[in-house]
Amino acid sequence: MSTLSDRYDPGPQIAQCGSINIGTADIEKSLWFFRDTLGMEEVERVGDVSYLRCYQELGHHSLVLTQQDENVVNSYGFRVRRPQDVELFAQEFAAQEIETLEIPAGTERGRGTAVRFLVPGSEHPFELYYDIDKPQAPADLRSKLPSNSSRRRGLGVRRLDHYNVQATPGRINQAEQWVRDNLGFKRREFAMLPDHPTTVLASWMSVTSQVHDLAMVANQDELNGRLHHLAFNLESFSDALTAADVLADLDVEIGVGPGKHGIGQAMYLYVFDPGSGHRVEIYAGGTTSSTPTGRRSNGLRSTSPRA
Ligand SMILES: [Fe+2]
Repeated sequence: MSTLSDRYDPGPQIAQCGSINIGTADIEKSLWFFRDTLGMEEVERVGDVSYLRCYQELGHHSLVLTQQDENVVNSYGFRVRRPQDVELFAQEFAAQEIETLEIPAGTERGRGTAVRFLVPGSEHPFELYYDIDKPQAPADLRSKLPSNSSRRRGLGVRRLDHYNVQATPGRINQAEQWVRDNLGFKRREFAMLPDHPTTVLASWMSVTSQVHDLAMVANQDELNGRLHHLAFNLESFSDALTAADVLADLDVEIGVGPGKHGIGQAMYLYVFDPGSGHRVEIYAGGTTSSTPTGRRSNGLRSTSPRA
C-alpha cells in the first residue's frame, strides 16, 4: 500500500548549494589557500582541474578549481532533491524558452548529469544535478567520526555554506523574483535601494533552514553576473577569529572583518584567494530561518558588510 508521501509530488526542488567551479589564473596558489591553509581535501586532480571538499562533506567535491586566464565563476552548482528533478527542471526551463545545456555525467568528475542555464536577469551560470560520488578519503586523511569524510585540518572549513552573487540594479528584481518563483528559494531577509524603494538592494534566500543559501545583491557599478563571494562554514566563532590571525600572518589579503553580521548573526571574515582573487567568506554560527516569507531588514543602518 502506498503511503501519503509516495503519492504527494512536490515537484522539482533544490536541496542545497552543491559545488562551485571557479577559474583561477594560478591554481597552485589557490591550492595552497583552499587545501593547505583552509584545510580542504583535494579529492582528485585531472590536468588543470582540481576537485576539493571540506572535512564534513561526503560528496566528491564542493569546489572545483580550473586553471584559466579569466578569474570568473564557471558554474554555481546546486544539488536537487530527487534524481528525476534534473529532467523536470529542464522541462520547465524549456517551456519558458530558457536555453539549457545538458552536461554529461563525469564532465565534472564524480558528478552525474547536470542541466546548465543562465539565470534570467542576472545571467549567472547555474547547474543542477543529483548524482554525486561519495569517495572515501585516503587512509592517512580518513576520519574515525562517521559524519566526517576526513580529519579536520588547517583552519577547518567544514562545508560550503552559500553563494553571494551580484546583478545590476536594473536586472536584479527580475533575477531575484525568478529564482524564488522557479527554484523554490524563500526570501528570508531583504533590503531595498534607499533611493529606489522598489528595487532590491539585497535579498537573502534559502531552500534550507539557513537564513541564506543564496544572496543576491545589486552591483552599483552596473556589472551583471558577478560573484560577490563564496562562503565556507566553520564550527565556531573562535575558529573564525583564529582564522583571522593565521591568515594575517600568512599575508593573505583580508577584506573586511572579523566581525558579526547584523543579518543572520554569523561571524564573518572576508579574504581573497591569492590564486584567483575571488572573495571568500569565512563564516561561523548564525541563526536559522524562522520566517517563511521575507522581512525587510533594518540592516541598512548598519555598517556591517552583507552576509
Ligand atoms: Fe556571505
